Amino acid sequence: MVFAGNESKAKEMKLNTRAVHAGDRKHNGSWTPITTPIHTAVTYFYDDANDLERVFANELQGPNYSRHGNPTNEALEELVVSLESPESPAGALACSSGMAALNLAISAALLDRRRVILAASALYGATISMLMKVLEPSGIETVFVDFNDEQATAAAIAEHKPGALLVETISNPLLRVAPLDRLAAMAKDAGAQLIVDGTFATPLISRPLELGASFVVHSLTKYLSGHGDVLAGIVVADDANIEAVRTLAKSLGPVLGPFESYLAMRGMKTFPVRMERQCANACKVASWLATHPAVERVYFPADPAHPDAAIVKRIFAPNLYGAIVSFEVKGAGRDEVFRLMNAFRLVIPATSLGDVQTMISYSAMSSHRELSPKHRARLGIYDNLLRLSVGIEAVEDIISDLDLALHV
Ligand SMILES: Cc1ncc(COP(=O)(O)O)c(C=O)c1O
Repeated sequence: MVFAGNESKAKEMKLNTRAVHAGDRKHNGSWTPITTPIHTAVTYFYDDANDLERVFANELQGPNYSRHGNPTNEALEELVVSLESPESPAGALACSSGMAALNLAISAALLDRRRVILAASALYGATISMLMKVLEPSGIETVFVDFNDEQATAAAIAEHKPGALLVETISNPLLRVAPLDRLAAMAKDAGAQLIVDGTFATPLISRPLELGASFVVHSLTKYLSGHGDVLAGIVVADDANIEAVRTLAKSLGPVLGPFESYLAMRGMKTFPVRMERQCANACKVASWLATHPAVERVYFPADPAHPDAAIVKRIFAPNLYGAIVSFEVKGAGRDEVFRLMNAFRLVIPATSLGDVQTMISYSAMSSHRELSPKHRARLGIYDNLLRLSVGIEAVEDIISDLDLALHV
């Protein structure tokens, strides 16, 4: 139940309102908790064994065993569906991490036994590792392609007949923006499933299911939870695919625990407000970095000269460009980058992103560490590249800390 029983009203409300209310307020007799409790019970029984039989048969809604579903997780899943796909029917499954969610989405997309994935060449390092080191040895081939090159993409689809296309809305760490609308149309024509990792973009900026994707995956660890205190992921799938996701999850068991679910949901109530502030701060930080003499190059989708500016106009919400700014430091190698990271007083030199606090990460050391230096260079990730996840602090303080470190 959404909005205390008024589901049709919920659809009319804005994303910021849905973030605060959706998923909560399940009636319990004559009283209703204003937030969803943490249901720690693993197993559930009913007054009549016939009802439990009907729950197992999917004829009656209700929990039976936590690996199959848990009331706290279901509230979180309802909330994320209401953010990602308020108009069309869809479902979600909360997972123990973003990587678990990605793995589940890929497994569900390839249930038709096709064995080729067409993947964007620019992806999070651990995703590339999963494709190459986990899926490839088990017989699933990945062909990497530049999805921003429409001709190359069409040729690769025709040649390899993939079962799935895999892409990040905003790529990690060089912030290329994928033409999700075109990719969805091409995937549909080829009978393939489009899987989108929307972690950097969030549903405030772009909603892949509305553009025709079959699956959207989030690391909830990042913006949607936002406080650096929960590791979680989610798969949102259109109506045609959600049952496959649920069936696989029952067998593979990558589900989220109820305490993490509660934390994710609690964080998500403020996600749109945090994200708006983070995006606004990131715009100011990117403009400032672009004028700094120690900075070689800034990567940020708001830049009118960004190679994907036309795609940004088509698929992003107005005036929101994400809150990651990547930049190269002039003439720096590892030693200079480490010196800079050690000089910060406010910005936290840590892996991860999307939290309320500003964090800086060195891709060669963290997100893309598992790739060889040659592979990184081929992707354009050099040893002087830093990825800044801009937080909600006063932007003047973020900028003055960057200024301090860049002068060291
Ligand atoms: C774009 C992207 N997708 C997926 C993940 C994996 O998320 P998790 O760490 O929650 O497994 C990350 C982690 O940094 C990421 O940046």
